[in-house]
Amino acid sequence: MQPKALSSFMASRHTTRDFLPKAVPAAIIDEIIADGLTSPSWSNTRPIMVAVATKDVRDRISKEYLARWEIVAPIRSSRWGQFKLLFTRRGLPTSNAIVAKPYVKELMPRAQRVGAELFGHMGIDRKDRVARDAAWARNYEFFGAPVELFIFTHTSLGKFSANDAGLFVMNLMLGAHARGLGTCAQGAVSAYDDIVRAEFDIPAGYQLLYGISLGYPSKNAVNDFAAARLKPADIKLKTK
Ligand SMILES: Cc1cc2nc3c(=O)[nH]c(=O)nc-3n(C[C@H](O)[C@H](O)[C@H](O)COP(=O)(O)O)c2cc1C
Repeated sequence: MQPKALSSFMASRHTTRDFLPKAVPAAIIDEIIADGLTSPSWSNTRPIMVAVATKDVRDRISKEYLARWEIVAPIRSSRWGQFKLLFTRRGLPTSNAIVAKPYVKELMPRAQRVGAELFGHMGIDRKDRVARDAAWARNYEFFGAPVELFIFTHTSLGKFSANDAGLFVMNLMLGAHARGLGTCAQGAVSAYDDIVRAEFDIPAGYQLLYGISLGYPSKNAVNDFAAARLKPADIKLKTK
């Protein structure tokens, strides 16, 4: 393959946020997981496991995520609401509470930019809390995708497990893209691992990293959104 062809193929992958209700054959899911497993790995340990949620399992998980979001959404910016949450507990993160923390100053502008541009693309006013919450809730419907993959990593290797998962996911996403499938990595689902644990046997030592919606992209305009991409100079360190 020509390098330029590979570069343009990689650049043509964008996150999908609206899917057709068309099932993805189990054999195709296995093919893209096999693509993921061609990635490099720390001592070839592959400290990752994948929960593949489809059909009834997918629907039950989605329903419970939505139920938690419906509790949290209206009270998350109220002190009293958060205080109440501590007592009722339902809706409190059961994993990765870090996702609810604000970004540090140096990363904040990038996160704000993609948020503003995505909402702008979707015709959502940033001040329209109801519309923004409805857009976020789509995460918990997995954007209509028939498949949700939950990526678990072994805690023993710390950040190297997460790195291995990222490498695996990238190959998996490109394998999906090559087959006309779309993907959306979802930190949004990482806060409630108990929902996934209730449906799958997860061996000891594995923690939920994030989810990935997988399916055939619809023609919805949200899928035409192209997030800004940095240039090499933006991340190249300068010498002293
Ligand atoms: C670990 C991770 C978690 C993400 N979580 C979410 C999410 O919860 N919801 C969402 O809509 N997009 C999510 N994204 C997608 C990013 O917003 C997207 O990758 C980024 O804006 C770049 O756009 P692109 O994938 O189209 O190139 C996530 C991406 C990654 C890598």
